[in-house]
Amino acid sequence: MKYLALIAALAFTGSAYATDCVECHEVNLEEHVEMEATLGTCNDCHGLADAHDVDMEMHSEELTITECADCHELSK
Ligand code: HEC
Ligand code: HEC
Ligand code: HEC
Repeated sequence: MKYLALIAALAFTGSAYATDCVECHEVNLEEHVEMEATLGTCNDCHGLADAHDVDMEMHSEELTITECADCHELSK
């Protein structure tokens, strides 16, 4: 199960530092700033919640895409 292996890898790296999304995704930041993307709206367009467990004690719905990038590497 490739998918389960990925989840295991995520759990492992996640314990040390905020995951660099860019290892698996390339986010067009400019485009997302224009769309005014926040954590509360990701799921309008994506299956973020299906693919990832975002700890809502650590994150809030108001976080903007540029704020995500402060902690997570979103693009190269
Ligand atoms: C203040 C720093 C900070 C900000 C801002 C932040 N995060 Fe995180 N995030 C973390 C940390 C720390 C973790 C837990 C370690 C990990 O799993 O990366 C985490 C975990 C995650 C995970 C789970 C990754 C996994 O391993 O499955 C996702 C998805 C995520 N964040 C998305 C976002 C998104 C989307 C935003 C912006 C809306 C955001 N984060 C903003 C620090 C932050
Ligand atoms: C180890 C690889 C990996 C990392 C790192 C990773 N993801 Fe993912 N992500 C996946 C997989 C696998 C899926 C589910 C398959 C897919 O839809 O591409 C997914 C799906 C998603 C989706 C839904 C895609 C869609 O179009 O429905 C979003 C949004 C997303 N991830 C955001 C993030 C963010 C934000 C981070 C950084 C905090 C992150 N991912 C880090 C592997 C990863
Ligand atoms: C208005 C719709 C919309 C919203 C809201 C939105 N996105 Fe996107 N996103 C897109 C489009 C369009 C693309 C480019 C096409 C694609 O790769 O799915 C994209 C691409 C991505 C990718 C790259 C997909 C991949 O599999 O490599 C990630 C990761 C991502 N978005 C994360 C997020 C996160 C995190 C949020 C919330 C903070 C968010 N998006 C909010 C429309 C949106």
